[in-house]
Formats: sequence, structure tokens, C-alpha cells
Amino acid sequence: MRMYDLITKKKHGEALTDAELAFMINGFVAGEIPDYQMSAMLMAIWIRGMDEHEIAELTKVMAASGDMIDLSPIPGKKVDKHSTGGVGDKTTLICAPIVAACGGKVAKMSGRGLGHTGGTIDKLEAIPGYNTTLSREKFMEIVKTLGVSVIGQSGNLAPADKKIYALRDVTATVDSIPLIASSIMSKKLAAGSDCILLDVKTGSGAFMKTIEDSIHLAKTMVSIGEAAGRRTVALITDMDVPLGQGIGNSLEVIESMEVLKGRGPKDLREVSLQLASNMLYLVGKGSPEECRALAEKAIADGSAFHTFEKMVTAQGGDASVLSDYSKFPQAPYKKDVVAERSGYITHMDAEAIGETSVILGAGRETKDAPIDFSAGLHLLKKYGDKVEKGEPIATLFTSKEDKLRESAKNYEAAITIGESAPAARPLVFARVEKTGVERY
Ligand code: URA
Repeated sequence: MRMYDLITKKKHGEALTDAELAFMINGFVAGEIPDYQMSAMLMAIWIRGMDEHEIAELTKVMAASGDMIDLSPIPGKKVDKHSTGGVGDKTTLICAPIVAACGGKVAKMSGRGLGHTGGTIDKLEAIPGYNTTLSREKFMEIVKTLGVSVIGQSGNLAPADKKIYALRDVTATVDSIPLIASSIMSKKLAAGSDCILLDVKTGSGAFMKTIEDSIHLAKTMVSIGEAAGRRTVALITDMDVPLGQGIGNSLEVIESMEVLKGRGPKDLREVSLQLASNMLYLVGKGSPEECRALAEKAIADGSAFHTFEKMVTAQGGDASVLSDYSKFPQAPYKKDVVAERSGYITHMDAEAIGETSVILGAGRETKDAPIDFSAGLHLLKKYGDKVEKGEPIATLFTSKEDKLRESAKNYEAAITIGESAPAARPLVFARVEKTGVERY
């Protein structure tokens, strides 16, 4: 078999066989297929696409390129969750303890921030002492006893994806549904859970800017999961507007704790409850309505918050910060951004707002740059809100005084204030299961 022939085949729009996909991925990981041939193949896939069987097989081979985690020693159904990435998306911190408090098992490996989007592991590391690199044994032990543990992704999880992603990043081939779906699902299959809940974000702060593209990506990932024997459901949720009010690591942990204590912003609470209910549905805790009631009860009776506290303690963190927020590192500099005119907020550019949080220090400008856990934004006014000229619309927090002016300008530019109130946007647009798509 020769890579040259496989590139030719895909260039003409033909499907690759299982054996050809295995040859290509295994050869690339082993260093036998050079980057330039793989780059040509990625562009051929970008242009010609792949059929459903090819995508499922590509994903399986990529998953098997490294560790395949065996969670079978943990009794009960394990459920994983994946978000395609957003701004202010802290739902894992809320859903994971809710599901565990209701008897589900969440053995979760999460990622760090990428570009303008935040990552769960960076948020958890804002909790003093929280260890995101546990041994496999300790991780499994915590899930067995508490029902939940969240750690960083192991270095050898789907190495084929790591290598291919690095090439896609520099060959303009990131935005391809077969490539995004196989990238995400290879890591989910390797992580070993029985069920997978996907949160496919849509809108200005998401990879997928339109609802139709988001549904197409969701359907592709659901069919990959189901073909691999994992029960998979996807929700299409809004990322045209940042989720909640806090953006930045400590701010997001605090806001998540507020939701777990029965308070917090309504949009974040609603999306988190819908995600948690679907995770409970996947592990067989009842009908969607029954699962929603269970999730609400876990917040109301404090069991979800206490589960999170126990997980933090088990992973070496100082759980007292979850009740006394003044123990989080405090940003030395803060500044209010005010409305430039009176009216209604008719648009928030979520990607630009995420980039503003990075400038303030909440994300990384370069791969290994440190994070300022205290940095970020608190959004005082959101999409649809009425504002008066000169009224504060957001507060910026940072340790870098010289970044305040630039960040305030960027934030102002990201907000559009119009004459009249815009139409309300749904928080969840659709639910995709193997049986079909339900639009809301
Ligand atoms: N997230 C991933 O893990 N892979 C992609 O290709 C896109 C988003």
C-alpha cells in the first residue's frame, strides 16, 4: 500500500477502506508517513469529505493509536461530557457533581483553554491545591467512592489526533466536519465511558457559526459514538453570547458554586440542568422529565455542592474557598466598562470577549504561558438588557494594569447597543439522538 495512491483516491472523491485508513493513521503516528503527504490527504478530505462509515472507522483507528482507558473496574454506567468549546462555559463544574450526586459515574478527563475558549482544567487549577494529574488508580478510586473525578487528559490519549491536529492548525484544515468529529470522538472513545453527552456550541463564539452546521456535526458525532457501542446524545446550545456572567478561571469557579448553591445566572443554570438531565438519562436514571427533577433536587438539597466539595478535598484542594470566595487570589486592578449610549444590547461578539479575557491574563497568549487565575470579566449587562449611557456594563479584573485600557476598548467594540430590544434567543436549539433531531 502507498500513501500516494490513497491521496489520489481521496482526491477523486473515493472512499478509503478500513485497511487503508489503518495504514494511513498507524504509518503517520509511527513517523513512516511524512507531514507533507498527510497534509495533502487532510486537504483532500477537507474538499471531498468522507462517508459515515469512513468517519467512524477513522475515529476508531485514531482512538486506538494510544491508551484505551478501561473504566470497567468502576461499577455502574460511566458518562462523559464534551463541549466543543465556548466563552464562559463552566458547565462541567456544575453537571459533573449533579450527576454524581444522583448516582451516575463521571470519570472525566478535561482539557485546557484553547485560543479564546476556556478549559475546565485551568478553571479547576484556580482552586488552591487542586491536583489535575492523579495516578490512574487514584482517579478510579475517587470515582468509585464519590462518583466523580475530573483530571487532565493523559499524555498518550489518542496521539494520532494530537499529531493530526497540529498539522490541521497550519494547513487550514481545522474546519472540516469529518476531521472535527473524528478528533473529538477519538478522544471520547479512548477515555472509556459507556455514554457520551455532547454539547455542540453554535454562534459567534463557537467553531460552528450556524445551527445547520452544528446539527450536521452533532449527527456525525452521535453516529460515530453509537457505531462504537456508546450511547451518545448531543445538545446544540447557544454560544452567540457568553454563558453566565463570569469569564476567567476563579470567577467561573465562583459562579459555578453559586449555581450549585441554587443561585447564579439563569442561563447558566438552565443549560447546566439540561446537560445534567441528559447525562442522567443516558445512564438510565429515568425519562428526561424524571432526570430533570433529579438534577433540580440535587441542587436544592445541597448534595451536588457537597459532592463537588468532597471531590476537591479528595484531589488535594482547599474546599474552604468554595464557601469563602475571598480566599481566591484577588486581582489587584479592576475597571468598569460603561455603556457608550442608551439602548438595548443587541449583539455580543463572544469570540472577541473571550479574546479580551486572554489579554487580561485569564488565558494563554503562548502555549506554555502561565495563567492569572484572578483575571477576567464580570458581565453586568447581557444580550437584550436595557442600558443607560454611562452605566457600567462589565467589570474587568487583571494583575496587569497596562492591559486595562486596551481590554476596555476591545470590550466596548464587542458590544452593539441598538435602539430597540432584540428578539429573545433560545439557550438550547436542538437535541440529537440516534433516533433523530428534535428542534426547540
Ligand atoms: N476540538 C477538538 O478536540 N478537535 C477539533 O478538531 C475541534 C475542536
